[in-house]
Amino acid sequence: MSAPAAVLAGLGGHVPPRAVTNEELSRSMDTTDEWIVRRTGIRRRHWSEPGTATSDLAVEAGHRALKSAGPGAPGDIGLVVLATATPDHQVPSTAPDVAARLGLGTVAALDVGAGCSGFVYALATASAALVAGHAERVLVIGAETFRPYLNPADRGTAVIFGDGAGAVVLRRGTADEPGAIGGVDLGSDGTLNDLVAIPGNGSRSRSTDRAPHPDDRYLRMNGKEVFAHAVRRMAQSSKAALDRAGWDVGQVDHVVGHQANLRILHALARQLGVDRARVVSHLEEVGNTSAASIPLALADAAARGRLRPGDRLLLTSFGAGLTWGSATLTWPGIALP
Ligand code: UT7
Repeated sequence: MSAPAAVLAGLGGHVPPRAVTNEELSRSMDTTDEWIVRRTGIRRRHWSEPGTATSDLAVEAGHRALKSAGPGAPGDIGLVVLATATPDHQVPSTAPDVAARLGLGTVAALDVGAGCSGFVYALATASAALVAGHAERVLVIGAETFRPYLNPADRGTAVIFGDGAGAVVLRRGTADEPGAIGGVDLGSDGTLNDLVAIPGNGSRSRSTDRAPHPDDRYLRMNGKEVFAHAVRRMAQSSKAALDRAGWDVGQVDHVVGHQANLRILHALARQLGVDRARVVSHLEEVGNTSAASIPLALADAAARGRLRPGDRLLLTSFGAGLTWGSATLTWPGIALP
């Protein structure tokens, strides 16, 4: 009999309604549509209105994923894993509120913080819980509200990040089923934790009497360095996940990489020896949505009919921490709401 595995059973995405074009940004900061498209591939991103928090986006995406998983899904959910770098509060975590608002009762619920790699980390956490028999179904959500953390004076971050949420339902199944999560690879390098950071938000900044600098509440990123690490680490991690799945890179139909920059995705494809046509890209429309980027890209590709049952997917991500993670899966037949 085939080994137990987590199997994809539902998918949904949500972005806030307000789309902000490059042209709109160029009216308030020193940038141009031409620069942003040429250097990143991003054409627009969605930003939440004041008053909207990460849980609001997560509930929308979670609702869609549950609907996509079919009528029995909500009753069987035993765990909610929410990947986010922008939780509603420092305390409490955001997942219990999301679970309650989705009508899931008193299920186990936790946040996973792994920056832009959060969704793959959450997927791995959920898979382990399913395989261990801790739940029959798990709702995994990646959700972010980055707009309040963007420094309008920092054009290296303000043009890149967007808000949104993507969610999947995983069920306990077997490794030979379509939808099964196969090889997983996760890693981190904390010696480089200052390359992407919001320095003023935690116990480190509160541990001194010194008032934090006002800019410390904003996201900071050393874009050039992060770019180089992202390509190298996602390529290495992808190969490790493929090895664990027993797949050759030539068998991969779709590479769904973290949607940070189209040039990063193309460089990754080059390092893996994969044709660019097999790279899934959704960042033109939503920018870098951090932990939401992979499920949002999946929801978009599925809605456009790009993913066919039986196709082989490689998911790979990279983010603050530094963290990285990859996973393989075969695409199941999924009904999108
Ligand atoms: O999601 C977590 C992981 N994050 C990532 O993976 C992001 C990785 N990094 C990147 O995607 C890119 O490094 C950025 C898009 C952030 C920046 O692109 P770049 O090609 O690396 O630009 P750069 O920082 O090397 O800057 C090149 C030039 C500079 O001008 P000078 O010094 O050459 O005169 C910048 O000041 O481009 C300038 N620049 C801009 N110009 C117009 C930087 N940002 C902008 C901008 N508009 N928005």
